[in-house]
Amino acid sequence: MTGQRDRWAELTGGRAGEEYARRFARLAASGHDIHGEASFCDALLKPAARVLDAGCGTGRIAIRLAELGHHCTGVDVDASMLAVARREAPTQEWLLGDLARLDALGLDPDFDLVLAAGNVMPLLAPGTGATVVGHLAAALRPGGLLVTGMGLDAAHLPLDEAPLTITEFDQWCARAGLTLRQRYATWSGDPYDGGGYAVSVHTRPAT
Ligand SMILES: C[S@@+](CC[C@H](N)C(=O)[O-])C[C@H]1O[C@@H](n2cnc3c(N)ncnc32)[C@H](O)[C@@H]1O
Repeated sequence: MTGQRDRWAELTGGRAGEEYARRFARLAASGHDIHGEASFCDALLKPAARVLDAGCGTGRIAIRLAELGHHCTGVDVDASMLAVARREAPTQEWLLGDLARLDALGLDPDFDLVLAAGNVMPLLAPGTGATVVGHLAAALRPGGLLVTGMGLDAAHLPLDEAPLTITEFDQWCARAGLTLRQRYATWSGDPYDGGGYAVSVHTRPAT
């Protein structure tokens, strides 16, 4: 661990797993599509792709991607979130670990796609974003994709203010050797217009 608590842990005390799962179950029961992120990623992937769900939480996205035929590894630092994922999909790979120390997990690299959805980037521990992006980029195969979704203002975050700008995030990606391929305002692919939520697709150039 980095020694500094991530913002998610500061918000939740590391006990949010069951309530987070209930919240999405309620949304699904009331007719909301809770699989927008998985559908978005699936559309970018060839069949049976390798996906790293970085900050996978309760596994709602990785489980859906596995249902769609992909091979998903989930990593999260919150044991209460991972406990839900392990219960819901015991045969999938779930790893307890800090994205700022992703190298310590000894993962096989060459993922086709690395996903950090659900505000993982703004909820990291302060000062660790660039390091995390470096590790996520290193986990990609040449030509692989980093897909992120993040709020950029208080209206789109469980925080009083946004801890990062999209410009800072793009700079971290550029330093990690990634190129911005596409940016949207939603997981449905609405065009990005400089608003408070960004879905970004960066790519590790093929060598
Ligand atoms: C709002 S939840 C989103 C979970 C999931 N991606 C989703 O969309 O349902 C944010 C997650 O990021 C995880 N997270 C934050 N910092 C982390 C870190 N340094 N390493 C691993 N996971 C982290 C939290 O533990 C939490 O599960």
